[in-house]
Amino acid sequence: MKFELLTTDPGSKARAGTITTDHGEIETPIFMPVGTVGSVKGVHQRELKNDINPDIILGNTYHLYLRPQTDILKKAGGLHKFINWDRSILTDSGGYQVYSLSERRKIKEEGVKFKSHIDGSYHTFTPENVMEIQRAIGADIIMAFDECTPYPCDYNYAKRSMHMTHRWLDRCINHLEKTPEIYDYKQTLFPIVQGSTYKDLRKQSAEYIANAGAEGNAIGGLSVGEPAEEMYAMTEVVTEILPEDKPRYLMGVGTPINILENIALGIDMFDCVMPTRNGRNGMLFTSHGTINIKNKKWEADFSPIDEEGITFVDSQYSKAYVRHLFSVNEMLGRQIASIHNLGFYLWLVREARKHILAGDFTQWKNKMVKQMDKRL
Ligand code: GUN
Repeated sequence: MKFELLTTDPGSKARAGTITTDHGEIETPIFMPVGTVGSVKGVHQRELKNDINPDIILGNTYHLYLRPQTDILKKAGGLHKFINWDRSILTDSGGYQVYSLSERRKIKEEGVKFKSHIDGSYHTFTPENVMEIQRAIGADIIMAFDECTPYPCDYNYAKRSMHMTHRWLDRCINHLEKTPEIYDYKQTLFPIVQGSTYKDLRKQSAEYIANAGAEGNAIGGLSVGEPAEEMYAMTEVVTEILPEDKPRYLMGVGTPINILENIALGIDMFDCVMPTRNGRNGMLFTSHGTINIKNKKWEADFSPIDEEGITFVDSQYSKAYVRHLFSVNEMLGRQIASIHNLGFYLWLVREARKHILAGDFTQWKNKMVKQMDKRL
């Protein structure tokens, strides 16, 4: 993997760059649609590629390990082939899902024993087996196994957990070196900064992670319920320390406003379930604010769902029609909302990139934040 930093915005720490993996170029800043179980929910690969057009999508080790399981993915020739996606993929390590999804878990130095949310069976994730599983899945970018602390988090717990995440990182690096790639392309490991909402811990963690000398670095443990200002403060501490010449990925973030504010703080990569999950619940993000399409006020509004017309669904369907689809619980409504929201998120990061390259990002960002901070 290669990262080329093209420009830094004069008024902020926003950057435009290009990541190159064996599956192509990724223009940054980038938003990665979440394809948890090997599908971006409600979206065909054809729409994903032609209409939403991301350079990279995300998959989850936790889910893919439980189903279809790694032996099937190996037989398929890896996740790219299995789902028919020839661009880049990143997999999260399970370091978040094991805490948020499994029914029960026991965290020890060795790893995490957890009970599957699907059938109640018991499994253990260790830094070592998570590297092996991610080799079998075959994503271009793979994540270190970490503990994502909850919010709020007791200082001593956050400190102990952060040190364990660092020891786990060393184990991931050691084991990955001994575990060759299965497929004919390179995989790159990103370590993850933790430290909850404590500046001193974040600083310490960022220094540890920077020292690991990875090709790219991630920030975890944010967007877990803390106020946005605390999230920004943590991002700021960490991006001061992480190397400039490596991409920075802020995990699980966020709203369109969160994304623009974190781009301004020097983040290059994002992922979040919001555009698809909230979309399935009738929330549409637009450049002029957020729409609850289930609201009665749209009942006879025959205007397009988004005047900007970013993806084909925006001009093809009216608000009244999409509201109707939600009110009769038709799956097409959820599909249209997902396509619209993902198209909007990708448009937003592409616009951000254009403005960074043009040198007027801060002005544009401030205008957009104001404009989007509304419920329509
Ligand atoms: N996704 C969102 N936050 C996190 C995190 O802290 N760790 C991991 N592994 N994934 C995440």
